[in-house]
Amino acid sequence: MPAVVLVGPMGVGKSTVGQLLAERLGVGYRDTDEDIVAAEGRTIAEIFVDEGEAAFRALEKAAVRTALAEHPGVVALGGGAVLDPDTRALLAGHRVIYLSMEVEEAVRRTGLNVARPLLAVNPRKQWRELMEARRHLYEEVATVVVATDGRTPEEVTQAAWDAL
Ligand code: S3P
Repeated sequence: MPAVVLVGPMGVGKSTVGQLLAERLGVGYRDTDEDIVAAEGRTIAEIFVDEGEAAFRALEKAAVRTALAEHPGVVALGGGAVLDPDTRALLAGHRVIYLSMEVEEAVRRTGLNVARPLLAVNPRKQWRELMEARRHLYEEVATVVVATDGRTPEEVTQAAWDAL
């Protein structure tokens, strides 16, 4: 059974919208970042520091595979999951919603959040680079694109619902 998968940059609201959408669809919600933290007993920041990004992406690929196999509900992926070609391939056949936002919206929402390891230094420059590197990958896997700029989570959920 196909899942509804949420992709998009960190801070775009995948977890909030994912939970609202799951409630509305009457299905369960799952978040692969949370699955990794639960399985590893470490935070994502700790995994990045201890083992590096490549090791985290390998864990993430396994978490996405398991979540999609076990859980035909709503699944939110981490913002960088689409970087891995195998992870992107796992999304084929599922309904994939890309929650998009512009760089300035991203800076406004998460700019000072240094808990996110990829944004610790010069958030605006890093956001620009992240968006440039990833936008086409989100678009490649998406079956639906929902812009979130200036919208509340409820409005985004409604737009995603309408688009499904
Ligand atoms: C990452 C996004 C994070 C988390 C990790 C790496 C990224 O997930 O997977 O810190 O590369 O963009 P969220 O998008 O849920 O914050």
